[in-house]
Amino acid sequence: MTAKFINIILVFFILSASISAQEIYKLQSPNGEINYRVSNNAGAINYEVSYGNEKIIMPSSLGFRFKNQPELRNLTFVDSGTISFREVWQPVWGQTKNILNEYNELTVTLEEKEIPMRRIRLIIRAYDDGIAFRYHFDKQKSENYFEIKDELTNFNFADNYSAWWIPNDYDSEEYLYRNSELDKMMGISTPVTLETKNGTCIVIHEAELKNYASMTLEKNGYPENSFRSVLVPWEDGTRVKLTAPFDTPWRVIIITPNAEKLISSNLILNLNPPSPEGNYDWIKPGKYVGVWWAMHLDKESWSIGPKHGATTENLKRYIDFAYENNIDAVLAEGWNKGWEMWGKGNGAFSYTEPYPDFDIEDISNYAKSKNISIIGHHETGGYYLNYENQLDEAFKFYKKYGINIVKTGYAGPIQPSGYHYGQKMVEHYNFVMEKAFQYKIMLDVHEPIKQTGMSRTYPNLMTAEGARGMEWNAWSSGNTPEHVTVLPFTRCISGPLDYTPGIFDLKYDLYKQDEFVKSTLANQLALYVVLYSPFQMAADLIENYKEKPAFDFIKSVPTNWDTTIALKAEIGDYIVIAREKDNYWYIGAVSDEERRELKIKLDFLKPGEYLMKSYSDGEDADYINNPYSLNIKEEKISSNQEYIIRLASGGGFACKIERIKK
Ligand code: NOJ
Ligand code: CA
Repeated sequence: MTAKFINIILVFFILSASISAQEIYKLQSPNGEINYRVSNNAGAINYEVSYGNEKIIMPSSLGFRFKNQPELRNLTFVDSGTISFREVWQPVWGQTKNILNEYNELTVTLEEKEIPMRRIRLIIRAYDDGIAFRYHFDKQKSENYFEIKDELTNFNFADNYSAWWIPNDYDSEEYLYRNSELDKMMGISTPVTLETKNGTCIVIHEAELKNYASMTLEKNGYPENSFRSVLVPWEDGTRVKLTAPFDTPWRVIIITPNAEKLISSNLILNLNPPSPEGNYDWIKPGKYVGVWWAMHLDKESWSIGPKHGATTENLKRYIDFAYENNIDAVLAEGWNKGWEMWGKGNGAFSYTEPYPDFDIEDISNYAKSKNISIIGHHETGGYYLNYENQLDEAFKFYKKYGINIVKTGYAGPIQPSGYHYGQKMVEHYNFVMEKAFQYKIMLDVHEPIKQTGMSRTYPNLMTAEGARGMEWNAWSSGNTPEHVTVLPFTRCISGPLDYTPGIFDLKYDLYKQDEFVKSTLANQLALYVVLYSPFQMAADLIENYKEKPAFDFIKSVPTNWDTTIALKAEIGDYIVIAREKDNYWYIGAVSDEERRELKIKLDFLKPGEYLMKSYSDGEDADYINNPYSLNIKEEKISSNQEYIIRLASGGGFACKIERIKK
């Protein structure tokens, strides 16, 4: 009896001691499902996140370590405030016409009790589809210059979730995704996608990455399932160098009840500020062909020489094709001097000197006469300063010829040193994006900085690579059929992807023997719906599209949508997406190596009768032996029926649906 009594007293004492030393703030999503809690336990700041009854993030640390300043000590919560926000906004282009941006926001101000009494604010937003938080460094009473040695944001996951991830290469996202339990991941890149045993899907990423280094995650030894943020360093090991006041990027935890709902999350975009008021008529999504695949197949060359691809004659051939086939633009790679010097000098590319067999004036006039845009190309080979130094002249040069779309490239290591995802390059990519905005130039960035929703503010940032795209099928063992069933839930959550689909000569019957594209023809068509990009390439050699009825689908598919719904999905197995533009619906579905039948409801259509023109795998199709077997069919469907989509191994399905007018 006495012992029990003492026990109870002890428990009470511990509790009351911890309560007095601890302060807690809570924040809830508008629908009440997602809960965030931040606590201060004797100066140690922790946050946790739950979704309904499911714990998602167990108490995890927040904070920083500095190189030029002492550790943050004895932090107290000195102030807090909450607001609620709701708006519906219209992107210049995108996957949906209207975007709901609704959240509750909590700001907690933390200050050291003793000198130097540094002050930072933690800003947290709770949305119905996730949580985001960022640190704001106020102007300080003393030193304002901070060298961040480590950001101490941790993610202690509540369970050993299933994860789709790529390694934390500081220069590249061009990997196939791996699926494992999260305790098998060591160092990874974001976005990383997790699935709980209940089917809840979680994506960890960042939003509005500027003046900062990109975040990767590394496994902690303790506790279980715990990861810490590791920022990509400068050459001297410092992660970030900044003068207050400044904001860090948002740390984002998207949470949805299933994989399908991940596709409709606009959280990353919503976290970025709106674009300035203005007229954006100069920004136009569209489709393109180009002098590109031929180089990857080694049929033509970027450099001047007997195989040179970007000749006036060849460009005109592509312009004619675009004109005849409802394609908006033609890409010209290998048009400028310097390719022959790649890797040999200090960044030899000139962005104002075409090769002699590329008559830019003649080509641009010819394109203009047919209302076709030319997509210019700026490969840096990693020599980013050589590019920065020429940037104004380079953009002026293109503008002189009416060229207002530029594809950029950063293939190879950053020269003379640095990482693609470090602070220095984050600033470079953003500098180019802002400069392009001033010049009214749209961008397609290859080897980019990760997409973090900046295209909301700068809608000229159209699309980017940052994934293992089609090119890998030309000169490596290629991409697995599974790859395109993972990308929509991982890389594509961060922003548009210039995957460059549409290869029709899948077996390289004409130019290559060794490899092949691991996909059926129907799968190639489906990618235009499955992998969103406001610029979509029809990537094959144009001669491979001649007299191919399947090309009709590419001609007609839009690159800008009013509505997007994922109808059915299992990450890494299959996905079926429906998208609508001006009352025409398109469906795209892809499968991994498995053959499958997927039954979908058509009740997303307004009640009525419709005509469906579909492109589906033939009975005998499979990506290895018979990728070209394709059925093209027109049939009447009704919004109240179910429809069975049959996918071959490595297969796909694409269709256009239009209302039958009474
Ligand atoms: C890599 C890019 O991803 C590809 O599209 C481009 O053709 C080459 N670099 C050359 O710039
Ligand atoms: Ca690339």
